[in-house]
Amino acid sequence: MTDTRRPFVAGNWKMNGLRADGLALATSVAAATPEQADQCDVAICPPATLLATVGERLAEIGGAVALGAQDCAVAVHGAHTGDISAEMLADTGCRYVIVGHSERRVDHGETSALVHDKAQAVLRAGLIPIVCLGETEAERDQGRALAIVGEQLSGSLPNDAGSALVVAYEPVWAIGTGRTPTEDEIAEVHRHIRNEMAGVSGIDPDAIRVLYGGSVKPANATAIAAIENVDGALVGGASLKAEDFGAICQSFAEAV
Ligand code: 13P
Repeated sequence: MTDTRRPFVAGNWKMNGLRADGLALATSVAAATPEQADQCDVAICPPATLLATVGERLAEIGGAVALGAQDCAVAVHGAHTGDISAEMLADTGCRYVIVGHSERRVDHGETSALVHDKAQAVLRAGLIPIVCLGETEAERDQGRALAIVGEQLSGSLPNDAGSALVVAYEPVWAIGTGRTPTEDEIAEVHRHIRNEMAGVSGIDPDAIRVLYGGSVKPANATAIAAIENVDGALVGGASLKAEDFGAICQSFAEAV
């Protein structure tokens, strides 16, 4: 593992939280993760409506929890009603932007080509894209998991990102279901991702962190953190409970 692959745990709050809940959760997460700051990078990705408020609260606390967004537009500014540019996200204090989450690929028909352009927009704004990949259950049952993840990877990853990029492997069937792949299955896909990244020009495959996401919780975090080529986690449901999220961060911090 290179130095740039410090463990990284990001909480994807999805479409959850009003102002009061979001501020309380961000404050509790900051309180639940101080000891991990030396060994593990931590970020929370609230819905867009809470980014500025939560960003200000995190800055006041002055801790190590970074802010991330869940999506962005490709354009810098202009006539794009309802869209939010990566530059606007940077302005709220974001450091990371999730792109290509399966919920956006499915709910909004996002293609890998669009995800690629969004990831480039994130880099253009000086932020770090977290590019999500993952097969459906039917694709895994057909023995196509590696092929699908490989196709999504080559279509979605921007060139010339160096190590300023994070990849998240999230099997669609493991998201919010309580089911996870076996440790061997996770290891196989993460190894494949590491190998396939060598084919993307201008990125450093050994330096890029590859997170696992899909039903990560305190009870399985230590085992997942120990898997080769797993450099962190993208956490959904469990990131809405500061205590659980803190315990997951602790597992990854200890896995160094
Ligand atoms: P869950 O942790 O709720 O399965 O969600 C995973 C996810 O989609 C994170 O982006």
